[in-house]
Amino acid sequence: SIFHVLLTGGVGSRLWPLSRQSRPKQYLEIFSQHSLFELAVQRNASFVNDLIVVGNKGNRNLSETTLSKIGISDYVNIVEATPRNTAPAIAFAAFAAQPEDILLVTPADHIIKEGREYDGAVQKAIKLAQENNIVTFGIEPTRPETGYGYIEFEGEEVISFREKPNEDTAKDFLKRRSFLWNSGMFCFKAGIFLEELQNYSPEVYKRSLAAWKKSANGELETESSLDIPSISVDYAVMERSNRIKVVRSDFQWSDMGSFEAVYDYLKEQGQPVDKFGNMQIGSDKHVSFVGLTNCILVSTDDAYLVLSKAASQEVKELYQELEKKN
Ligand code: GDD
Ligand code: MG
Repeated sequence: SIFHVLLTGGVGSRLWPLSRQSRPKQYLEIFSQHSLFELAVQRNASFVNDLIVVGNKGNRNLSETTLSKIGISDYVNIVEATPRNTAPAIAFAAFAAQPEDILLVTPADHIIKEGREYDGAVQKAIKLAQENNIVTFGIEPTRPETGYGYIEFEGEEVISFREKPNEDTAKDFLKRRSFLWNSGMFCFKAGIFLEELQNYSPEVYKRSLAAWKKSANGELETESSLDIPSISVDYAVMERSNRIKVVRSDFQWSDMGSFEAVYDYLKEQGQPVDKFGNMQIGSDKHVSFVGLTNCILVSTDDAYLVLSKAASQEVKELYQELEKKN
């Protein structure tokens, strides 16, 4: 069987105040009439037989409501007790499947243009996964982004995978032209993934399995979940495995991960930017920027954020500070 594994555990803290614990960005209808979660489900529905949603207690209802709105009530729901990042989240989905099942793992919060390019890339990935490879989707990089993983490639072969390089390294990767961005989507057999996780991150494998064995109806238990190391699949498997292949993908892709990405996306969609590169997001009020360049004003009902576009990655720390105060 082929499963779509939809990861929906993140809070989207770099998009505060648009996105937050109680309403993570993937459920908002701010980027189109449909939420990103809904679009992600529909974009992949034709390739798969079944859906596995991996999320947390807090967004369980949001997922359920969104899915019932599009007529889906039959899916596997995995509910984490506490976020442990993507390596354990994917491991749970793999435990829920059979070793030979193909998992197409995607985030719930990206913007992707549907169409021939996307379909072709997924079909290629499924074929490579059937041949026991772990498949990544590589996107042509356009800036020295430090928030992404980089795939050094030659054709379909992956020479190395480098998660979140520092700025100098990212600049060097961009110049060398033999690197692609990791889109954060993956395709592999459940059994192959677990084998590699066990090989390269045995502790993560062992603790995830122990927690899974204590789960009931897909609901993880808190105590055993807290024992699982919190680590992303990129560090736990992708940087280490020799079974990685890349499908070079030329569909339009945007990780709405930071306000810089949102700015670029909205600008392309025709959202006004003043002659100094300033933009406002979230309201139709008139705003003037004086003496500022490349700044963003974000407004919501209960909060404003004013930031320099270049400092977009720092919103995550701001969010964490605000969380502590509350
Ligand atoms: N269920 C669940 N549980 N989902 C999670 C968890 C978790 O504990 N943590 C993160 N996720 C979900 C997020 O909601 C998101 O959809 C996806 O997994 C990826 O997590 P991020 O936290 O957004 O990762 P990232 O943006 O730092 O990096 C990843 O994505 C980049 C592209 O967007 C990496 O794969 C990079 O290599 C990649 O370039
Ligand atoms: Mg992300």
